[in-house]
Amino acid sequence: MRVDGRAMRTLWATPGRDALEVIDQRLLPHRLQVERLADVAAVRDAIRDMVVRGAPLIGASAAYGIALQANADTGDAALREAGAMLKAARPTAVNLAWAVERMLARLRPLPPGQRRDAAWAEAEAIAEEDVAVNAAIGRHGLALLQEMAARKGGAPVNVLTHCNAGWLATVDWGTATAPIYQAHAAGLPLHVWVDETRPRNQGASLTAWELGHEGVPHTVIADNAGGHLMQHGRVDLVIVGCDRVSARGDVCNKIGTYLKALAAHDNGVPFHVAMPCSTLDPSLSDGLAEIPIEERSAREVTHIAGRAASGEVIEVQVVAAGSAAANPAFDVTPARLVSGLITEHGVVAAEEGALRRLGARA
Ligand code: MRU
Repeated sequence: MRVDGRAMRTLWATPGRDALEVIDQRLLPHRLQVERLADVAAVRDAIRDMVVRGAPLIGASAAYGIALQANADTGDAALREAGAMLKAARPTAVNLAWAVERMLARLRPLPPGQRRDAAWAEAEAIAEEDVAVNAAIGRHGLALLQEMAARKGGAPVNVLTHCNAGWLATVDWGTATAPIYQAHAAGLPLHVWVDETRPRNQGASLTAWELGHEGVPHTVIADNAGGHLMQHGRVDLVIVGCDRVSARGDVCNKIGTYLKALAAHDNGVPFHVAMPCSTLDPSLSDGLAEIPIEERSAREVTHIAGRAASGEVIEVQVVAAGSAAANPAFDVTPARLVSGLITEHGVVAAEEGALRRLGARA
């Protein structure tokens, strides 16, 4: 997508293939800074500390992490250890394990002397496919937005989204935002309600920043406002991303997604999930019982970062000293609350048969 008129992606390899460069997402929206990651441990740290975040992006980053390991040592044990280290960086988004397994499966049968070049080529392929997959999700989601626009007789379509499933969460386009960007480019009038997404504020800090740079009309709302807006007919549909979808269609995404799905269900608002097939985990059925939910630091709840009047980015405490805080980072929305999954192959039902057929195609 574009930043100040300049085309940009979230990550790229250096020309000499000696490092991976990424946007440091912890600093947005206040500062656009590129971070250089020169080995697999640096990639692991960047994923763990959320320099890069979002399910597809941590997968692509991990793929480059394996390629960086292949610069240093292409032996079986070294690659296996690098893969284990990367997979342990964050537990919930399945794209991370998916990308690592794909890299190792590509390299394992090759003689060590051929593995370095193959690793970089495979990481590039994963990144390029991510862009193509998201563009396809955009085309299928665009049709949903066009239908809604026709029903509204040309009045702006109001989309609500949660967290950041935008281009910053992927290599480019985003998943939930791809239909929005394509609709905006096609001249379809729309407006996006952006959930701020406490505790880390990925909506307020990242989604709003992206939409602003693309010129998409949007309004940031407190996380608790969505239900009220739906009750008053001010949300036409919800589109969110996902971190892992179980075989029967339960959707794990950023904490708070489930409450939006409940409110959407109660108000007859369509609730769509943008899902690249790399986010489907056919090995799990009951998402609620089986998807591991990351528990993050309580400090993300007790403290909040922002720009002071001086321009300096500071962190302040918002919770009384001594109060305990809990920070589950994801929740699971049961399949019955999901209107449809927008995939690169089309919109499918959140239902076992449809997902099995989709898995067979992917
Ligand atoms: O903790 P984060 O910021 O990595 O969480 C990101 C989300 O929950 C996104 O909605 C999800 O990864 C989909 S990204 C296209």
